[in-house]
Amino acid sequence: MNTRSNKEELGRNWLKEVIKPGLQASQVIGIYNDASKIYDQYTVDCKYQGPTIMAEEVARLVAEELRHEVRVLDVGAGTGLLGRELHKLGFSNIDALEPSEGMMNILKNTGHYRVKYQELMVVGQHTVPQDTYDLLVMCGSMAPGHIPAECVEDFIRVTKPGGWVVLLIRLEYLLTAEDYKDKLEAHMNRLQKENMWCKEVRKVVPNYCTDHEGVLFIYRVL
Ligand SMILES: C[S@@+](CC[C@H](N)C(=O)[O-])C[C@H]1O[C@@H](n2cnc3c(N)ncnc32)[C@H](O)[C@@H]1O
Repeated sequence: MNTRSNKEELGRNWLKEVIKPGLQASQVIGIYNDASKIYDQYTVDCKYQGPTIMAEEVARLVAEELRHEVRVLDVGAGTGLLGRELHKLGFSNIDALEPSEGMMNILKNTGHYRVKYQELMVVGQHTVPQDTYDLLVMCGSMAPGHIPAECVEDFIRVTKPGGWVVLLIRLEYLLTAEDYKDKLEAHMNRLQKENMWCKEVRKVVPNYCTDHEGVLFIYRVL
């Protein structure tokens, strides 16, 4: 029998596999394809609160009566957990970018997303049109071997001037992962100096997932 802590352990071990150093993007996506049917259960077992935390923060930005018309892009949308939370709060114009076919198939069945880009977010190499979204959200998909730090420029490019980019990342990855430490925040600050966007919020959030804090960024695109 799988006890609660056994299940948490299974989830943690799977996560270790998908963030193993040196994986190619195709290998990462292959792991998500294989795990797509059990991903949602892993998030429960690992007490992953990212989508709930993110949706509450995003809802603070937009008045309730405007939420149905605000165009949202969920980058690295996975099985659509964030779309589900946003939908509960009145957002209904949500698109998704997700490279894993398995994850995308589950996302499609939620019925919460309109346009679906089944592709990787790689610097300058995606088909999302420029200046399209009022809100770009990325929850938990900047992890080792996942979305590269440089892609924040692409986040800005596809967001309308005056729109928001909202990012939620595991704090440990921001501070210690080779992909992001000394890179991601430095790059984001540089883009602010170049007047591409302006930071409105940077805060550490507790209970992101078992024993781990997250860090939430909200930027206004200029
Ligand atoms: C930890 S899951 C998070 C999914 C969802 N945002 C959530 O909160 O449940 C990471 C997701 O990022 C996707 N991903 C990995 N590399 C990516 C890339 N370069 N561009 C876009 N998505 C990527 C994976 O396929 C996976 O669905």
